[in-house]
Amino acid sequence: MISVAVLGYGTVGSGVVEVIENNNAEVSAKAGEEMHVKYILDLRDFPGDPYEDRVVHDFRVILEDPEVSIVCEVMGGVGAAYQFTRQALEAGKSVCTSNKELVAKHGAELLELARTKNCSYMFEASVGGGIPIIRPINKALTAEKIESIIAILNGTTNYILTKMEKEGADYAQTLKQAQELGYAERNPEADVEGHDACRKVAILSSLMVGKNVDSEKLYTEGITRITPADFEYARAEGMTIKLLATSVGYEDGSILAMVAPTMLSKEHPLAAVNDVYNGVFVTGNMLGDVMFYGKGAGKLPTASAVVSDVVDCARHIGRSSIVCIWDKEEAKLIDKAETEKAFFVRVKAIAKDTVCKLFPGGHFVEAGRSEDCGYITEVMKEKDFAEKCKELGENLLNEIRLA
Ligand code: HSE
Repeated sequence: MISVAVLGYGTVGSGVVEVIENNNAEVSAKAGEEMHVKYILDLRDFPGDPYEDRVVHDFRVILEDPEVSIVCEVMGGVGAAYQFTRQALEAGKSVCTSNKELVAKHGAELLELARTKNCSYMFEASVGGGIPIIRPINKALTAEKIESIIAILNGTTNYILTKMEKEGADYAQTLKQAQELGYAERNPEADVEGHDACRKVAILSSLMVGKNVDSEKLYTEGITRITPADFEYARAEGMTIKLLATSVGYEDGSILAMVAPTMLSKEHPLAAVNDVYNGVFVTGNMLGDVMFYGKGAGKLPTASAVVSDVVDCARHIGRSSIVCIWDKEEAKLIDKAETEKAFFVRVKAIAKDTVCKLFPGGHFVEAGRSEDCGYITEVMKEKDFAEKCKELGENLLNEIRLA
């Protein structure tokens, strides 16, 4: 019998219990032993809940129970979640998590600790919700030097951008819907300002280079400045706008990783990733392109990914199932200011001549609007673009990178 404890009975926690209970035959067969949820840790009581008898309020009950070999940390945050994770691993209990904030911040350290204690720290659900992406990178793409990852990693913002593009939907209303559907973080700022996607791309980047990529050092821009007008211009150019998390590896082992709203061609496979779906487009030096697609947020998809890790741990009781390389050493990061790309700029109509003079190699985008004007620059260095934008002053309404 495999006894599991679930830390946090919120959206994902209740999903984990549901997956283990409802799919018990499948999960137990694949684990090789019958699996059950013995404890649910939460500060609250849940009168009337079918699993109310399993709720405990003191983590020590779980820690001191030798029957519990696997702990699911789905409480979020980097305070108590970090302490409980460390204590569980110290006690030789494997930990499976969806907590991308904690994985991004302490992943290397927790993996090392788990290895020394012959248990596992698993985080499939921390990136891409229900999409298998961590395990494929660690176990399937092992023959590859991964050259780049371009991804849509936040379901909430993809849901909002899709509604804005297809229905001209109101931003605030759509965010509220995403929260009601259980996609958004408790603090939606983490979603809309790009921090959630940033943590996820930092995790993927760390696995890509085998060294620690500090999410706090990555350039991160959210979607709050994107307007329906920007979508009109994108459409006129045969493009769409997505919040892209990108990570590009260089020959010397350095990396350029960032999160920003990006205009990309409708022809790109990621342009077809809509609503709460996420997509991860990986390019390997031998394989070429491969794309992973699925529900990037939500109770059951995320819980399914957590439970897939639980099954993996159950198959390796008494030894570590960790196969990834993620050293504590910091990866060398490239300064984006020196990198080159084209940019979309939207300016007030009175600045039409100025924009053309500032970026002589570009072209106007005809979207039939008179109140402003859209322009796509030549490919140029980020720092040169930023310098020229200063000359537009308050006539600059928006700027968006092109993929
Ligand atoms: N808030 C996150 C999202 C949840 O919208 O993608 C899944 O990590």
